[in-house]
Amino acid sequence: MKLESTPQGVVAGSIPLFAGHPSHDLLPIAGVRRAAASLWGGGQVTRLFDYGDEQGNPQLIEFLVERLNRVERLGISRENLMIIGGATGGVDLICDQLTQAGDVVLVDAPSYRDALHIFRDRHLDVRDVAIDDGGAIVGDMARSLRALADAGRAPKFYYVVPNFQNPSGITMPEARRRAIIELSRQYGFAIVEDDVYNDIRFCDALPPSFYALAAGENVLRMGTYSKTLAPGLRIGWLLASAARIADFVSSGVLKMGGGANPFTAAIVAEYCRSGEWEAHLAWLRGQYRQRRDIAQSALDAAMPPGVSYSRPNGGYFIWLHLPPTVDIADLAERARWENVYFAPGTGFYVDPEQGARHLRLSFSFVPIDDLRAGIEILGRLIREMSA
Ligand SMILES: Cc1ncc(COP(=O)(O)O)c(C=O)c1O
Repeated sequence: MKLESTPQGVVAGSIPLFAGHPSHDLLPIAGVRRAAASLWGGGQVTRLFDYGDEQGNPQLIEFLVERLNRVERLGISRENLMIIGGATGGVDLICDQLTQAGDVVLVDAPSYRDALHIFRDRHLDVRDVAIDDGGAIVGDMARSLRALADAGRAPKFYYVVPNFQNPSGITMPEARRRAIIELSRQYGFAIVEDDVYNDIRFCDALPPSFYALAAGENVLRMGTYSKTLAPGLRIGWLLASAARIADFVSSGVLKMGGGANPFTAAIVAEYCRSGEWEAHLAWLRGQYRQRRDIAQSALDAAMPPGVSYSRPNGGYFIWLHLPPTVDIADLAERARWENVYFAPGTGFYVDPEQGARHLRLSFSFVPIDDLRAGIEILGRLIREMSA
């Protein structure tokens, strides 16, 4: 199957191993069509075309609150959750509400590229914390916080992707989450928990969320349908204290715009209510697990000694560490000549130089044959360059 469209910088006919969204053959197009048809037939069609509630579609809020309480025993109520235009929209909304230009925010090194982009757009002072295979190193974070405090400053929030982090694939263990919550209490910063890969897991359970461990205190947690349904719907959710949700909902843009994407939110609510989403999710996990296994075997076969890579138990990404002989820009150029594109590590750091020995591969998007072929090509190029 060759790609027809070119969203997100995907070159038609290429092997875009950088693309972190669902493969077109994993989109539940027929199911979403059924949900839309049921709303059309149910006499609610004009409601779809009108402004919506500021907090978001009430049926979708009800569904998500019930599910989070059932699956994670969170004990939240509808006052704790609002619908957002995807997690990216949530990150921007949080910056809008909690920060001003020049404020300090903490991120992991590396961290999600588009969040860094938003922080730069908002002229925030972004400080990074080194990670190891359990995520942010608490001692380093504490040192950074003390240095900031000595200068009379404190971060507004710490932004973290706690599960199957983009780009490293790391899931932070519970003890570390607890230690960071302690620091957030001591220094008075919020935790922005971007949990978009929670449902794409190939293991039984994940550590409790920051939101659960802190009993919701000063944590803002996001989820999205982009990874488990379709990114074009632009629907996600934000969990926070009732007071914070009330503040956010009263922002000018939501008041006037009538909530996030009411048209698609209503269709997503119907799709979820019918039980189709849970069934799709169970199937999807198997599909992504298979893709992860294929990518992992292809890497094992193709990569020379000196290249190491993550073995994620969920999410979309594999993070590679290259030998010093391989220049990342040179590798990207050579790969482009062979029609293969990857995400160089440089984009995921505040200081791009720190990512010069890394690259991120995504197994979510490209057809399986291209996944194998793309990794084989990269392996050959890296072998040639490290010889
Ligand atoms: C950590 C993280 N947050 C947010 C997003 C985007 O989510 P949405 O499509 O809901 O804006 C992505 C997608 O790559 C991501 O990796």
